[in-house]
Amino acid sequence: MLKTKGRVSLLNEIEGIDSLKGHIGIAHTRWATHGKPSKENSHPHMDNSKNFSVVHNGIIENYIELKTFLVSKGYNFLSQTDTEVIPNLIHYYYSQESSNNKFLHAVKRACDDLKGSFAIEVISILHPDHVIVTRKDSPLVVGKGDNENFISSDIPAILSFTKNFYLLNDNEYAEIYNDKILFYDKDLNEISKELKNINWDSSSAEKNGFEDYMLKEIFEEPNAIRETIGTKLSIGKDIVLDELNFTKDYLKSINKIYIVACGTAMHAGLATKTLIENLCNITVIVDIASEFRYRDPLVDEKTLAIFVSQSGETADTIAALKLAKSKGAKTIAVSNVIGSSITREADYSIYTHAGPEIAVASTKAYTSQVTLLAIIGLYFSETLEHSNKDFINNIKKDILSLPDKVSNILDNVNCIKDFAKQVYTEHDMFYIGRGNDYAVAQEGSLKLKEISYIHSESYASGELKHGTIALIENGVTVVSIITDETLAPKSLSNIQEVITRGAKTFIITNQNLDDKNFDFVFKIDNISPYLSPILSIVPMQLFAYYVAKEKKLDVDKPRNLAKSVTVE
Ligand code: AGP
Repeated sequence: MLKTKGRVSLLNEIEGIDSLKGHIGIAHTRWATHGKPSKENSHPHMDNSKNFSVVHNGIIENYIELKTFLVSKGYNFLSQTDTEVIPNLIHYYYSQESSNNKFLHAVKRACDDLKGSFAIEVISILHPDHVIVTRKDSPLVVGKGDNENFISSDIPAILSFTKNFYLLNDNEYAEIYNDKILFYDKDLNEISKELKNINWDSSSAEKNGFEDYMLKEIFEEPNAIRETIGTKLSIGKDIVLDELNFTKDYLKSINKIYIVACGTAMHAGLATKTLIENLCNITVIVDIASEFRYRDPLVDEKTLAIFVSQSGETADTIAALKLAKSKGAKTIAVSNVIGSSITREADYSIYTHAGPEIAVASTKAYTSQVTLLAIIGLYFSETLEHSNKDFINNIKKDILSLPDKVSNILDNVNCIKDFAKQVYTEHDMFYIGRGNDYAVAQEGSLKLKEISYIHSESYASGELKHGTIALIENGVTVVSIITDETLAPKSLSNIQEVITRGAKTFIITNQNLDDKNFDFVFKIDNISPYLSPILSIVPMQLFAYYVAKEKKLDVDKPRNLAKSVTVE
């Protein structure tokens, strides 16, 4: 067993790495929950007899109770992790087992004792020909190769080895050999599973000449939006979404729509709330999944709840979905990953077609999510026969123009790079806007802070003067989005207020402004204010990227963050 603290690439420097022998292996990059990042706390963890090794993604909530029990039986612990109870429990049950398949039964008995979430891989020197895996509320996929098989928490990680996958459900087990895979249900009855083919191009999970995945993924946005629109839209014809297929009577029966998600996916909900509300005349509440799940929300059969998740594996979003379902709501999953957990839980699933998103900072997933949610909003509106046809057709035309308009932005990135060079040493930046410009300001601010580590906040422009303007001074940059001509005069007054207090200004706009009044103006094409976040976010993504590059940071793997947040 070899392990170390730090980046995966450091594994190459561990003494003994070249002399490792064997044909099966398990590995895990730990995201510290219990115990600080250190070699002792890294995975795999072994039992005291060193017969069983385990890697685990998730959180064992009752680990203290289990540890106390194991200590009373004479077991010692070397780490501060919750995970270390698992191999020791397996050893404990293994020594009591008399069944034919002692290894599998011991793993199952250990898992029966665990509370919380887990996806685990177990190997044993006593059974050197296979790996046992299982999951509960944490993701795990099994990739089928040719005389070799793979295990991972998500598909993109092993896409270059196979495109054929089995998806494990909660409390199912698999024994993985090089030439066969056996599946079992929660009671260890053997079951068969459907092999799914994922048609993602494996090169889409590679950098293809770009310096970083994030930059590549920003440049893939026109195509991701185009693929997400697919054949769903045509001018003059009602949208048909086979995935949802709702009737007018059903949509008339609901009194609210929830959009629930985390981080960027939640921001995609904020960016489409007004469109859905105005076009359908139904209240739309956008909520953070980790809040929704614990506050007994008012949800019943008259609620339609939409859960948005790029990965489809975000623990809080999955838990929120299960809660809404248990309260009688109809649930829709909007995800980028076919067969992901959220899509298996929801009543209906509909996909963005952004292709694999590898960089931790979400870019093409956001613009695809906003595009798809807007299409869903139009579909509801047409089914309800709520809005004027010409009005809907104009929005459809604007949606179809999005790929070209995003490409226009990408043709013009150097000025953003130059402005990033001027401000990358700053410590505070504010993002402001009104209406949908405020919704997208929240996403712009998140992008900057997560990859550049610059403190940033987003504000509704009109709120600044209620407190935050006290922080505006020389050395602060204010990014301001102005894309709605009805709100532009108000936004411009707010910008004057920050200029007066010494801030630098970066304006993203489709309005004709007098550029010399501001430090940097980036022009985007005109579009319906309902869709403007899909354009205005792109310069903000690029700005965050170039600021982080100036600071020589790892943009694809920012500190403390994981691509899929599969723990609470
Ligand atoms: C944003 O750049 C982050 N990666 C993060 O906020 C992310 O959007 C969030 O964790 C939700 O992920 P999901 O879409 O996979 O559920």
